Amino acid sequence: MSLPGEFASDNAAPVHPVVMDAIAAANTGASPAYGADPWTHRAEQWFADTFGAESSTTLVWNGTGANVVALRALLKPWEAVLCTAQAHINVDECGAPERIAGCKLVDLPTPGGKLTPAQVEAALVGIGDQHRVQPRVVSLTQATEYGTVYTRDELRDISDIAHRHGLLVHMDGARIANAAAALGTSLRECTVDVGIDVLSFGATKNGAMGAEAVVVFDPALAASLPFLRKQTAQLASKMRYLAAQFIGLAHDDTWLVNARQANAMAHRLAEAIREIDGVTITQSVDANAVFALLPRAATEALQRDFHFYVWDEVTGEVRLMCNWATEPADVDQFVAAIRAELSR
Ligand SMILES: Cc1ncc(COP(=O)(O)O)c(C=O)c1O
Repeated sequence: MSLPGEFASDNAAPVHPVVMDAIAAANTGASPAYGADPWTHRAEQWFADTFGAESSTTLVWNGTGANVVALRALLKPWEAVLCTAQAHINVDECGAPERIAGCKLVDLPTPGGKLTPAQVEAALVGIGDQHRVQPRVVSLTQATEYGTVYTRDELRDISDIAHRHGLLVHMDGARIANAAAALGTSLRECTVDVGIDVLSFGATKNGAMGAEAVVVFDPALAASLPFLRKQTAQLASKMRYLAAQFIGLAHDDTWLVNARQANAMAHRLAEAIREIDGVTITQSVDANAVFALLPRAATEALQRDFHFYVWDEVTGEVRLMCNWATEPADVDQFVAAIRAELSR
């Protein structure tokens, strides 16, 4: 496939044909509703094979829903979530965690979208003080909103500190496939094996039509999930069509092929524009996003033919996002346009 001109969002990509075929294959005859169907059982089995028999998976409609259900499972009403200032839960969910999970988010500024163990430790204040919210969850985004990827050691260090202080670790894995591909690990090795307690598992950006999952690694947490999902309006009646999307992504490791393609295209783009005078890459390009400073006039001119976001209105930093359908020719065309614009 090819997506000329599209660098705005990995959600702009179409549905991967393998996922479309899997949905079509599920579209036969009657089937029990609300997840009691064979496709949901197959998808749940794939999650169990991927993350271990102790894990338990709940399919949901979207990423905001996954995050809200996950946080609700972990929090009491007086407990708080430590996250980055740029976290999707903090800035891009219209206050859903605060409104629906009813929790305070303690947002910590981070230059590259990654929390550090020192930040987590410094935020553990007022413990036991009835006047203060009690930090209970550390929420990490992987890959981060800045396209950076926590290493396994970084994840392990943060979860060790969190667990030592009685906190749990949530991972917003809207781009977990891109992160696993970047790290060269299995999905399990970069989540449950490094101490993650609950994962919002992203599929939509990875080629699904619209499906995500909440994966919990502690069996004690699993019992509340079906109730929280329903109450959060995330229970699909025709669940087989959500499940089929995971079956498609699991087929021949399509999820990994897709993530590698998106990441490779971002690297191709970054390497090419790094050489252009007037372009500054601002973040480490670890997954499928490139963040860069371009002159404002060039950004405005380029946006006539190419879709991409200005990420920071103050500095003019732009976000250039690749996805599973981005092809080398799409990148090369964009690079040529950037080069032409900056040589004017
Ligand atoms: C880091 C992150 N988390 C979660 C989501 C999921 O959001 P949505 O509710 O749009 O599926 C997104 C989508 O942009 C995201 O970038």
